[in-house]
Amino acid sequence: MAPGRPFAHLTVGPAATPVDLWCEDAVAGMARRLAPGSVDVVVTSPPYNRNVPYGAYADDRPRDDYLGWTRTVGAAVARVLAPRGSFFLNVGGAPSDPWLPYDVAREAGRPFRLQNVIHWVKSIAIGRAAAGRAAALDRDLAVGHYRPLVSDRYVHGALEYVFHFTHRGDVPLDRLAIGVPYQDPTNVARWAGARGGLRCRGNTWFLPYPTIRFARRDRPHPASFPPELPEWCLRLHGVGRLRRALDPFVGIGASAVAAARLGVPFVGFDVDPAYLATSVERLTKEFGPDRTGPGTVVEDGGGTATAPRRRAAASPRARTARSTT
Ligand SMILES: C[S@@+](CC[C@H](N)C(=O)[O-])C[C@H]1O[C@@H](n2cnc3c(N)ncnc32)[C@H](O)[C@@H]1O
Repeated sequence: MAPGRPFAHLTVGPAATPVDLWCEDAVAGMARRLAPGSVDVVVTSPPYNRNVPYGAYADDRPRDDYLGWTRTVGAAVARVLAPRGSFFLNVGGAPSDPWLPYDVAREAGRPFRLQNVIHWVKSIAIGRAAAGRAAALDRDLAVGHYRPLVSDRYVHGALEYVFHFTHRGDVPLDRLAIGVPYQDPTNVARWAGARGGLRCRGNTWFLPYPTIRFARRDRPHPASFPPELPEWCLRLHGVGRLRRALDPFVGIGASAVAAARLGVPFVGFDVDPAYLATSVERLTKEFGPDRTGPGTVVEDGGGTATAPRRRAAASPRARTARSTT
């Protein structure tokens, strides 16, 4: 077992939850740092190969090369995921490349059964009449993060996917942990599963980005997700049986924040030290500086390191990232 030192080892929150962040290639890191079956939930969003201007990673591989790599990632996740674990894979497409999320899911998901597909809805329009009287709307509603798209062919992209993979497709979930209240109380009595007047949220999750004033300061990453997305995934899996959560592409630490909020020990990898530094800042800001400690030596599980593809320079083709407001 080769020794290693994480970029940061923190203990945060009232439960002194351990958070380990590694500046390391995800596939090599999982092989080195994590024992087989040692993670209960993996929640992650890998690079989408859409030429997003990340700091240290070049997001522009040939398609086949990229998809082959996502297959490697899926195999690495399958090794570390516990038999009754959940792998939540967030992938978005582009209006001009609608197959992308499905292609990634097919490759990364090869070792697994696809148990659920969740639609992360970032913006939505709801007509007053369609909402019904109980909603008491006085006008049509258009809410969430709207990124205008100038096109006569494509509609603007308002959703991303969260593919929920498990080893055998039979992992019980705590659906009401993220349940929503019944609008019509008469339904509560009718459905035996209703707990405290809640019903299952289903496979459409409306989660807008919080409004920010300065992207560079408030969200210094071109493709982050809000902490509520991984938090809902962890809760849906069932927090009570979570020994450890993992995000192999942790970015600026949304999933680390989510795990820490729930008191779930967490490990994350990213190749970009600047993003990891932001993760540490973010955790410290939310949970306080007192409990942060220096890096600790962690045992490693063997494996071969592979160098991540480094970004050469800002590409002139770089597009606006998918999640900046
Ligand atoms: C879609 S972003 C994840 C963002 C994260 N969910 C957040 O909310 O901040 C993908 C991340 O993967 C990182 N990355 C790219 N290649 C990697 C690799 N081989 N190993 C680990 N991290 C990598 C990038 O630096 C980037 O931060």
